[in-house]
Amino acid sequence: MMSDFDLSLLKSRTTTGPSTRTTPGPHSWNMSRFVTLSTGQKMPIVGLGTWKSGPGQVKQAVLAALDCGYRHIDCAAAYSNELEVGEALALRVGPGKALLREEMFVTSKLWNTKHDPEDVEEACRTSLAHLGLSYLDLYLVHWPMAFQPGKELMPRRDDGSICYSDTHYRDTWTAMESLVDKGLVRAIGLSNFSARQTDDIISVARHKPVMNQVECHPYLSQADLLSHCRSVSVCVTAYSPLGSGDRPWASPDQPSLLEDPRLAAIAQRYQKTPAQVILRWHVQRAVVCIPKSVTPSRIQQNLQVFDFSLTDDDMKLIESFNRNERFIVPTVEANKIVFNGTCGYISVFPERCRDGKKVWRDAEHPHFPFHDSY
Ligand code: A2P
Repeated sequence: MMSDFDLSLLKSRTTTGPSTRTTPGPHSWNMSRFVTLSTGQKMPIVGLGTWKSGPGQVKQAVLAALDCGYRHIDCAAAYSNELEVGEALALRVGPGKALLREEMFVTSKLWNTKHDPEDVEEACRTSLAHLGLSYLDLYLVHWPMAFQPGKELMPRRDDGSICYSDTHYRDTWTAMESLVDKGLVRAIGLSNFSARQTDDIISVARHKPVMNQVECHPYLSQADLLSHCRSVSVCVTAYSPLGSGDRPWASPDQPSLLEDPRLAAIAQRYQKTPAQVILRWHVQRAVVCIPKSVTPSRIQQNLQVFDFSLTDDDMKLIESFNRNERFIVPTVEANKIVFNGTCGYISVFPERCRDGKKVWRDAEHPHFPFHDSY
């Protein structure tokens, strides 16, 4: 009996029909709580997201998550809250505590201003120190775009434009590989990389990327990227898996995924919430998901997605909600930068519109990922 996801089996099922391997039932193979990465590591398929969880909120969110069974926490230096995540981990994980370090899966990410190979190890060690850990299970390059090195998360000129750096992500990758060699991280991966950029890394990699973490939800189903990543043994994590309704630049003309009446109808049939149906959809696609919540009852609810299965028809129905709509693209509003002081990373995505058109802030960057169709 399979004890976890086997991506090669999933691939053979989706591309060549039902597997000939003996499995206990039609959905039993996807009832597990783990995916297996190309390194052999088992990664809990549902983790707690911490982006947008502000100071004073994230510690109790992580504690609530650990206490109800989460073993995977997704972090990033750019969320400016790793110290507080670390305070929670220190209370529950380690010798004499409720959980062993080996039971946990902790991810962090290298920010854009730390892409210079000289800066990578220090950035990783800073995240480790803030989180109170001696190693990370997974360390991702947060974006393919390098910004000017320095202490500012968002180095800007007087006119508000971002100062870029010409460091190539392939050179950053070589420095990421040294972190594996030194035992600071168990695996390395990517975030917000297109399929082409992922292949570019694979073509030079000594340690292959195990993961590409991208925006993914029923309005942005990422079917092409998912299928490509699977074909090269790269697992996918969905960030903003619930559609990130709390993104500060959400506008009333954008649809709210969690309030979609079609999801409400499906949820009612399963006697689950819309959030649980969405998360179950991710799980059945073998996509790791990291729902963010600072509400203990929702944190708990979001892990209760292993006691039901969506039918193939409902999986397809949810897939058909795809609008190829990105909610999380760094964008700018002409002559205006909105600064929300609560979380450094939030401020990188001010509301946008120039002559009524959406303006991608980093579209001019040579490694901006979203010019590629996937
Ligand atoms: P909150 O943090 O106040 O509990 P995403 O993971 O896609 O970024 O979505 C995060 C948003 O979804 C947050 O506003 C979060 O609210 C909300 N959320 C998380 N889980 C649930 C849930 N089970 N039901 C409703 N809203 C949820």
